[in-house]
Amino acid sequence: MSKALEPRTPYYLIDKARLLRNMEKIAFVREKSGARALLALKCFATWSVFDLMREHMDGTTSSSLNEVRLGRQRFGGETHAYSVAWADHEIDEAVSYADKIIFNTIGQLERFAGNAQGIARGLRLNPGVSSSTFDLADPARPFSRLGEWDAAQVLPVMDRISGFMIHNNCENADFGLFDRMLTRIEEKFGELLKRAEWVSLGGGIHFTGEGYPLEAFCARLKRFSESYGVQVYLEPGEAAITQSATLEVTVLDTLYNGKHLAMVDSSIEAHMLDLLIYRQDAQIGDGTGDHEVMICGKSCLAGDVFGEFRFPHPLKPGDRLSVLNAAGYTMVKKNWFNGVAMPSIAIREPDGSIRLVREFGYADYESSLS
Ligand SMILES: Cc1ncc(COP(=O)(O)O)c(C=O)c1O
Repeated sequence: MSKALEPRTPYYLIDKARLLRNMEKIAFVREKSGARALLALKCFATWSVFDLMREHMDGTTSSSLNEVRLGRQRFGGETHAYSVAWADHEIDEAVSYADKIIFNTIGQLERFAGNAQGIARGLRLNPGVSSSTFDLADPARPFSRLGEWDAAQVLPVMDRISGFMIHNNCENADFGLFDRMLTRIEEKFGELLKRAEWVSLGGGIHFTGEGYPLEAFCARLKRFSESYGVQVYLEPGEAAITQSATLEVTVLDTLYNGKHLAMVDSSIEAHMLDLLIYRQDAQIGDGTGDHEVMICGKSCLAGDVFGEFRFPHPLKPGDRLSVLNAAGYTMVKKNWFNGVAMPSIAIREPDGSIRLVREFGYADYESSLS
């Protein structure tokens, strides 16, 4: 791509060749383990690359009426509908898009099973163990509302459901931990699993990461599936898109304040919100170079900081930076805080050409309010 054709920053840049690497690992797991893979739209819903993704995945799973609709209309394939709580006015429309609906509680199942007669129904189970290190994101946190805990209460409603969803892995790159937690699930819910036709093991398993023992993972999934006679589903979000996009930004200004600071034309709060929520640094550069610079966003939030990074030279206005690993929980969470220009979305095709697929302007900002 020639410099003159580069989209104006800020923009998210999705790299299809990198996305394909994750897709090939997912396809391998489907093939070897028999599990089906559904993209978790809560993590990534940029439908311009669904043409590539649907060749390697079975469909989508969702967390709201809007997501289940997007999954049905933009991705296709098998479409799972889940919500922490469906409203009366949502349920019929949600059912109209879904192949399966998963209720979060027995209460919701009892309320809406009649509306979902025509499709498969399931229930979310909460095994009380997770791999989360953040209370905020821990499905097994004390008093968690995410799913039913007590097998004795679930047994009597088995006539109304055919399967379960259990999401208890969070950013889990440790196969041993996945294996041990699955064993706990088998011990706790074995009687229920024997009566089920399908079980979704949720997302949060980082099996597309470098060095993950894919063969052992597939063997474990297969063993689980055969032990209970169930179709296994996985709901990868981050694992599907990890390392496949960057956020492209430009330095607008610099300041020395005891440290070297550089302000860029983006905002962590508006464009990479999860990093702020979970108090994590972004990834910029390769960690080498003699010049340490704090990269800051342009919103008014004092703590709008991407982190401190090393560069081979001092930064100056006009310098271009790439924030790495910017696909998951970014585009789905971007917001108009401060009215900061919302990053466009561009795709790098496998031949290296860059295609701008979405720009946002004042009209989008204005129409997001009234
Ligand atoms: C029910 C469910 N499925 C799938 C996912 C996707 O998780 P991840 O993006 O970590 O793979 C989540 C994330 O919160 C979830 O709650």
